[in-house]
Amino acid sequence: MYILGISAYYHDSAACIIHDGKVIAAAQEERFTRVKHDKSFPLHAIKYCIEASEIKPSEIENVVFYEKPFLKFERLLETYLAFAPRGFRSFAAAMPIWIKEKLFQKYNLVKSLESICTDNVNWSEKLLFSEHHLSHAASAFYPSPFENAAVLTLDGVGEWTTTSLAVGRGKDLKVLKEIFFPHSLGLLYSAFTYYTGFKVNSGEYKVMGLAPYGEPKYVDLIKTHLIDIKEDGSFNLDMSYFDYCIGLTMTNSKFHNLFGGPPRKPEAELSQREMDLAASVQKVTEEVIVKLAKNIASETGDKNLCLAGGVALNCVANGILVKEKVFENIWIQPAAGDAGGALGAALVAWHIGHNKDRSTYINKDGMNGSYLGPEYSDNEIEDFLRNSGAKFYKFDELELIQKVVQSLSKEKAVGWFQGRMEFGPRALGNRSIIADPRSKLMQKQLNLKVKYRESFRPFAPSILSEDVSDWFEHEEASPYMLLVSNVRKSKCNEMNEQQKNLFGIQKLNVPRSQVPAITHVDYSARIQTVHQDTNPKYHALISHFKNITDCPILVNTSFNVRGEPIVCSPSDAFKCFMGTELDVLVMGNYLLYKTDQNPDLEENYEEKYELD
Ligand SMILES: [Fe+2]
Repeated sequence: MYILGISAYYHDSAACIIHDGKVIAAAQEERFTRVKHDKSFPLHAIKYCIEASEIKPSEIENVVFYEKPFLKFERLLETYLAFAPRGFRSFAAAMPIWIKEKLFQKYNLVKSLESICTDNVNWSEKLLFSEHHLSHAASAFYPSPFENAAVLTLDGVGEWTTTSLAVGRGKDLKVLKEIFFPHSLGLLYSAFTYYTGFKVNSGEYKVMGLAPYGEPKYVDLIKTHLIDIKEDGSFNLDMSYFDYCIGLTMTNSKFHNLFGGPPRKPEAELSQREMDLAASVQKVTEEVIVKLAKNIASETGDKNLCLAGGVALNCVANGILVKEKVFENIWIQPAAGDAGGALGAALVAWHIGHNKDRSTYINKDGMNGSYLGPEYSDNEIEDFLRNSGAKFYKFDELELIQKVVQSLSKEKAVGWFQGRMEFGPRALGNRSIIADPRSKLMQKQLNLKVKYRESFRPFAPSILSEDVSDWFEHEEASPYMLLVSNVRKSKCNEMNEQQKNLFGIQKLNVPRSQVPAITHVDYSARIQTVHQDTNPKYHALISHFKNITDCPILVNTSFNVRGEPIVCSPSDAFKCFMGTELDVLVMGNYLLYKTDQNPDLEENYEEKYELD
């Protein structure tokens, strides 16, 4: 039985297809349309999922949407009524769109599905709706390697729920407790994202990256005025400081007065104040997450925890959960945001709707390393390269790896395009830009010459799973780059007093460890462990790099420039290669050097994408 899951119309539209409960394919729409966080109906992603399953659309048993439109409408309406007449501005702004598009979502979904498939299929009969947080919880539990687990979902907001505690037992998944809108950890974080001058719904990870530069001096102020945290981790926000129920912004003048000034203008210089604010909201978030996790551990007695929802992408908080050993095992859905809701919705239909049993694998999850997107054969890559006029070489795998390692160890930046594209926000070694983490200049150079940004965040490391504990204070697998841990002291350089007093990004430029390009100012790193069984080619590449350099680590950053979705096809990858100062491009077993290419093929890329 094939079931198609869809998330759309809010943020990060995506589609996923499962066959008898097994995930076959999944992808975000943005990768095809090249519109970052595209929220339109995921037409391309659906077409890809159907192609990858090699079925006719009529063979799909159910199409499941990841949330219930009417529940969401009810929330908007009741929120308006509760705050009337003050909420009129946001109500007036939201309602015409809602009435036109969302209330008729079922009709719209059916129409869009009909446009994909011209056969006579009754989509209306096949269409089901899951609930937003149940979709998240299902995406976290069903693909996890656990037979039984506690499940925590943390989000901005779905329909009504912002936080849910659930338990998974085999094929059963039951929600035990929920916290409802407007009380939301995700929206609290987003309020600070807005206040510190970043984009809500995409800049949250920048706030997390900024936090290590700051002192959490505003924690008391936040806890006294904005959020009341109970011992069990449940919380209430004082809505008089926030504007998201009644206005069009996140925070209001009362909030601004509390923190002594207006929000930072986007692109304005960052000051110590923003860093302290980021450190403070991060600390409060960690406190809530740890308390919620401890509470659910004691209530359920579970040894395993599954996490999903946008807030589960906060890898610093996840790292603390691991370090404090609140649970013996933690598994986090790699597509933790709304894209993963498409997967969860399909799994809800299979296990709960159709009441089908679930099988788990020992020490293995059901995500196939999150390599669930499109792949391109060597023939397709070669055809593309010939047609585009590129100069390229073809090698067997061993030779290819040797050539790439040579370039890496000469401080070259390499675009590494292999196999199936990753599902979720992270590049995990199939659509990645890779480099030598030992280089003192790499963090700066990659940012300025390739990503076109100045970043206060270091890059993330890909490390051979067998070597992780030699380099980091970390034992566990972290295949999805969702855990933060510290670089081992033996690999770090103590900063002197003068260096410690450097401001902001200057501090990042001090070589703080043997692998400075991936070490944050607080000596932390966002780790991806690379496993031979899930990505043998990437594992072989890093192993060879280790043989030559003694370092089992590569810099891994997503293959894109700022504001651009991660590359999907050979054409996207080649454009990005030619539009930036990437030195080498590797696609399948084909290798291209920038110095060989015809300069006429260069594109002006830098101006193409907006700031993210
Ligand atoms: Fe969500």
